[in-house]
Amino acid sequence: MQKVKTAVLVSGGGTNLQAILDAERSGKITNATIAAVISDRAEAYALRRAEQAGVEAVTIPFKELGRSEFERQLILALQERGIELIVLAGFMRILSADFTSRYPERILNIHPSLIPSFCGEGYYGLKVHRAALDYGVKVTGATVHFVNEVPDGGKIVAQKAVYIHSDDTPESLQKRVMREAEWIIFPEAIESVAGNIRRSK
Ligand code: GRF
Repeated sequence: MQKVKTAVLVSGGGTNLQAILDAERSGKITNATIAAVISDRAEAYALRRAEQAGVEAVTIPFKELGRSEFERQLILALQERGIELIVLAGFMRILSADFTSRYPERILNIHPSLIPSFCGEGYYGLKVHRAALDYGVKVTGATVHFVNEVPDGGKIVAQKAVYIHSDDTPESLQKRVMREAEWIIFPEAIESVAGNIRRSK
């Protein structure tokens, strides 16, 4: 059975991408192969991480193209490479319902809170952690979920809790949620979902 051809979509630093690439290299991901890393911005450092790992790095410039042309080119890029699973790892654009409906339960995202808390439109980056601290919750975490037409609204695949410390800032909390939850559960979820796809082929 062939491994599941996977594309990782990124916009920024790519620490989750790095965790995924490392997991493939160390044998923690066996069911998926990262065939391409696609960014909506040429400056994304994640593209350098892909190149360093010997993975094809592609830019489709969202700002210049606008959403519908971006998605048209993205679909072509995915089709040309035979991509079966799409992983959003710090990808900062919301995909249209037209796009997500083409890939039911084939798009994974990671969100840095325990959904359904602190999620949906407007909750991204440090804003999520600031909202958790402002609310005063004592536990937060990360969630891997399938992507559908509702922002952060698709079926949950994996979650991991992280305790909040009394002296946490949004920055310190973001770092701990990444280290203690995101970088662990995202590769695990990819391995599990790709395993299901592989067995169904
Ligand atoms: C992570 O916090 C992730 O949960 C969110 O965006 C951030 C991406 O960071 N979706 P990185 O680019 O993986 O370092």
